[in-house]
Amino acid sequence: MAEDLLTRDDVHQDQPVERDPVVVFDNVSITFDVKPVLEDISFTVAHGETRIILGPAGGGKSVLMKLADGLLKADSGTIHVFGQDITRMPETELFKLRARIGMVFQESALFDSISVEDNVAYRLHEDLVPEEEAHDRVVEALRFVGLEQAIAKFPPELSGGMRRRVSIARAIISQPDLILYDSPTGGLDPITSTTIIELVMKQRDVSHTTSLMITHRLQDAFTLAMNRFNPETEKMEPLPDGGIDESTKFLVLNEGRVVFDGNTRELVRSDDPWLRQFLS
Ligand SMILES: Nc1ncnc2c1ncn2[C@@H]1O[C@H](COP(=O)(O)OP(=O)(O)O)[C@@H](O)[C@H]1O
Ligand SMILES: [Mg+2]
Repeated sequence: MAEDLLTRDDVHQDQPVERDPVVVFDNVSITFDVKPVLEDISFTVAHGETRIILGPAGGGKSVLMKLADGLLKADSGTIHVFGQDITRMPETELFKLRARIGMVFQESALFDSISVEDNVAYRLHEDLVPEEEAHDRVVEALRFVGLEQAIAKFPPELSGGMRRRVSIARAIISQPDLILYDSPTGGLDPITSTTIIELVMKQRDVSHTTSLMITHRLQDAFTLAMNRFNPETEKMEPLPDGGIDESTKFLVLNEGRVVFDGNTRELVRSDDPWLRQFLS
């Protein structure tokens, strides 16, 4: 029995793969019609890292995220996700890869005509997970986002912040190895935005899930950099002694190019005039 386990090739293969960077962009470019949208983008996201993507609207942030999920194809360059080259990966392989990725879209992208439970269980139903197990996992995911009581409701009955939380529950239900958040606080008021950022932080500090998060709110970025989630109080709190979360890093895009790639200290100390202006 034990020998059986040891000779299972996934035991040997999985571990080194897991230590590789989770996402690697290498000189990636993409043009729509004649307009270059991303030019020569290179960056790496390590295991357990939360990479915040900032930059003016139209700078290519959402396109970058769709490339990472294989929803768009680069014109040149290569993208590795979980150590696999996805640039020329056939759709059937991409499908398997996406099973390890949770996506939270800006618009929440829930189905209005099915219940919260069925929205959150969507992927489990596709994977033919037995109903009872699916239900238990939905309850657990909704508990994580503090929305158990909404399980039988329909999305149009919920506030914008609650819908966003449902979409986070849907993204985490399959315990993804990578979460892609596209503007999870977009369109929300500042207080609701903070509750969403607290969930992103909980995912970071409790589950240590690697993630990419696009945001247009600098406040979101600095909240993530300077706070931690306390599992005992179930709330976020400032890091002691003005500390900074070391797993949180930044990528700033402007007009399709990387203008900053580094950690929080480097970001706030940068003397790049464009960056200083953008951060002020
Ligand atoms: N599928 C598409 N077809 C053509 N142009 C697109 C497409 N997706 C995005 N673009 C263009 O690419 C640029 C970057 O878009 P996007 O990545 O959505 O920016 P943002 O940084 O605001 O998320 C924009 O000029 C947008 O119009
Ligand atoms: Mg966008």
